[in-house]
Amino acid sequence: MVLNLRSPLVVASGPGGMGEYMEFIDPKALGAYILKTITLHHKEGATPPRIRAGKDFVINRIGLENPGIDTFVEDTVAGKYDHLFDRVPVILSLGGDSPDEYKEIARRALPIIDRFIAVEYNFSCPNVEAGGLAIVSDRMVLKDIMVSIRDILKDTFLIAKFGIEGIFVEQASEMVKDTGWNGITLINTIRGIVKTHDGYLRGGISGAVLKPIGMRAVYEVRQRHGDMFIMASGGVYAPGDVKDYLEVGANAVQIGSALFKNPSIIGDIHEGLSDKSS
Ligand SMILES: Cc1cc2nc3c(=O)[nH]c(=O)nc-3n(C[C@H](O)[C@H](O)[C@H](O)COP(=O)(O)O)c2cc1C
Repeated sequence: MVLNLRSPLVVASGPGGMGEYMEFIDPKALGAYILKTITLHHKEGATPPRIRAGKDFVINRIGLENPGIDTFVEDTVAGKYDHLFDRVPVILSLGGDSPDEYKEIARRALPIIDRFIAVEYNFSCPNVEAGGLAIVSDRMVLKDIMVSIRDILKDTFLIAKFGIEGIFVEQASEMVKDTGWNGITLINTIRGIVKTHDGYLRGGISGAVLKPIGMRAVYEVRQRHGDMFIMASGGVYAPGDVKDYLEVGANAVQIGSALFKNPSIIGDIHEGLSDKSS
């Protein structure tokens, strides 16, 4: 199975919300739009403060706020996201709080699965109690989940999103290959802490500081798997960042936190990449 994107630029899950940035993006500039992670049950998300920007990073503890899969399926059937589907290929992001939830959500997504060009499974959210990180650190559990999902979503292009915590990217990529998944996204946020005026904010670090770490992850996996579909995520703000990730082996490059700084950034990067003199 292959995923041919019309552009290597992809909106990352989370910062792009449920398609809100599409009003700032020329569809031709975009390969795909990944929705924020949907979980089995509705999540309110964390209490404020949820997000802060530093000089070279963003820290967030959104806590996967989302409507839950059943509402999401109903809304999709009712046409709520048609404006997005009409303009750009969409990737569904799924996550969970337990192994059973990871599998069950795949079943519940089946009625609308054909509307998406791929599903990205978030195995790396640091901001939920029992989700991503706890699951990836138990290799047997992770393998069981991935085998089951592969079985449920038989014809879907499946992408596993891993960070660098709880599992080495080298092992994660082996798991992708062994379980018959189609691709990998590297990396997600890394847990951090910053001091605020009234205490500490613990959350996931994104932004420019992630780029060398993401580069290493993509590089290592590409060395091992010449034909694996790899999406890079972490610290992309300029055409040069995209070129760097493509050079070390990414097939596509996600843009996340940079959207907060400049909602039109995808178009700017697209132009920069097309400009032969740059
Ligand atoms: C506010 C915020 C919310 C996020 N929510 C999600 C999410 O729902 N699912 C997910 O897989 N990643 C989520 N991420 C991680 C991003 O998709 C991305 O992997 C990470 O931010 C690194 O890329 P960046 O440096 O371009 O932001 C979130 C990141 C931020 C900053």
